[in-house]
Amino acid sequence: MQQGKFITLEGIDGAGKSTHLTWLENFLNSKGIDVVTTREPGGTAFGEQLRALLLDPRQRMHAETETLLMFAARREHLDKIILPSLNRGDWVISDRFTDASFAYQGGGRGVSSDKLQILEQWVQGSFQPDLTLYFDVPIETARQRVQLVKAADRFEQEQDEFFRQVRAAYLQRAQQFPERIHLIDASQPLHVVAAALECIVQEVLFN
Ligand code: TMP
Repeated sequence: MQQGKFITLEGIDGAGKSTHLTWLENFLNSKGIDVVTTREPGGTAFGEQLRALLLDPRQRMHAETETLLMFAARREHLDKIILPSLNRGDWVISDRFTDASFAYQGGGRGVSSDKLQILEQWVQGSFQPDLTLYFDVPIETARQRVQLVKAADRFEQEQDEFFRQVRAAYLQRAQQFPERIHLIDASQPLHVVAAALECIVQEVLFN
């Protein structure tokens, strides 16, 4: 059924995903491809309300509540945006998807992989992105970038150790799924990152 390709972007806060998302969208448009860009948590009206709760620094919640809400938002996102777009033949670029749950809730909060895998199976079955671009940056670089942009949300307020665990979990997943997850050194200048991106997208999705 699925005709379009599903691309996800991942990285710790401050890795520069948004800039690269815009670049990638323009690149695909220049090849005549219709692209839907979206994000997690969010992407639907309902999911955006969950996002507001999840990112609000005043909210306190159990790590498993946080996990369940991430997957609840994802279920809506798949149903209302991702799958219908792909079935129509559009390509979808999502700023984060399930790898973020394994990295943030698994690595950062310590929720077990077994529980995350059950939710993954429940919410998406065997469905996976065609390509995941993981933008890797040292914690220090990411922290500096985040501080420059805006007031910190509930995740951005976490300490360096949290982000070290999140990054370690991302790196581990990139090793575990080398066919799908491509690591890009995002501490390099923008034009170098863009060139790396183009190379990967050409090789994986146009060959
Ligand atoms: P963003 O600011 O990059 O859009 O991401 C929102 C935050 O949500 C970010 O700090 C990572 C976090 N997040 C999780 O903790 N688990 C998830 O499954 C997703 C999708 C995002």
